[in-house]
Amino acid sequence: MIKQRVLTGITTSGTPHLGNYVGAIRPAIKASLSGDNESFFFLADYHALIKCQDADLVYQSTLELAATWLALGLDTDRVTFYRQSDIPEIPELTWLLTCMTAKGMMNRAHAYKGAVQANVEAGEDDDAAVSMGLFSYPILMAADILMFNANKIPVGRDQIQHVEMARDIAQRFNHHYGEHFVLPAAQVDDDAAILQGLDGRKMSKSYGNTIPLFLTEKQLKKHINKINTNLLQPGEVKDPDSSAVFQIWKAFATPEQTAAMRVEFEEGIGWGDAKKRLFELVNEQIKGPREKYLELLEHPAQIERILQHGAIRARQQSAELIGMVRSAVGIRPLN
Ligand code: TRP
Repeated sequence: MIKQRVLTGITTSGTPHLGNYVGAIRPAIKASLSGDNESFFFLADYHALIKCQDADLVYQSTLELAATWLALGLDTDRVTFYRQSDIPEIPELTWLLTCMTAKGMMNRAHAYKGAVQANVEAGEDDDAAVSMGLFSYPILMAADILMFNANKIPVGRDQIQHVEMARDIAQRFNHHYGEHFVLPAAQVDDDAAILQGLDGRKMSKSYGNTIPLFLTEKQLKKHINKINTNLLQPGEVKDPDSSAVFQIWKAFATPEQTAAMRVEFEEGIGWGDAKKRLFELVNEQIKGPREKYLELLEHPAQIERILQHGAIRARQQSAELIGMVRSAVGIRPLN
């Protein structure tokens, strides 16, 4: 059987939260342990620069994200785990693809269109505060993907369009210069849990309603206590399906524990009680990784070594591919 190559990037512009964990990190690590896939996971630090120009934050986020994945048990012998900026062939390929990308297609990219629309609504110039990085970011993402001949790209719904653009760019390149790239497809996991945040909306950094993954026990308890609930008293029947407390419970519990909690809601468990139980459940699962995480943060050089090891592996492929692609476009030694 030919293994499917799975590749995904994580932008290094924030601190991972419970929503990232159950929606993306946990399923990715699980899939990487199955023998059917060959996984490539990377820290998309060039992508971070598009939305975050705070150098300390980009640095800190890179460190925290790498530590998070490692602490959660990513097996870097099985998975190629690297940092985008350690692969100089990626920006090189980005340029070659940029010259094969229709500007009109970039005009239609959601991130750019969203920024323009916000400007129009605010009565600003269409392109106010829009950098070329934001405008052409789907091309950098296409280079990430096409560089490693990836077939499957696990992403959230907001990224499907970008994967389709990568496919389009690959087709155009292949058509003009001959077959060099595998055509990738987005993979959206409908089973992956989407967590509600403190205010009941989707847990997201942009809503400021997250529960960070690795808080101290005290802070975790405090955050869980902040989850919005209604005013029903202990003893009053509660609806589990509209409750963020229950949704988060479900994402961490076994099916049996979930069924039992559903009954407790119907029997009128108090909110204080339910939150205390939720804290215990989450904390139990996070405790081990949290210790490892804190220990890794104390030893950034150890993380750096792991990333360098990943970069060596990744570059074996990227160096070969860029050689072929350069030659295909006519950039080759004169002889
Ligand atoms: N742009 C993606 C995001 O914001 C992250 C990303 C960068 C990515 N390069 C990628 C995802 C390549 C998948 C494949 O979520």
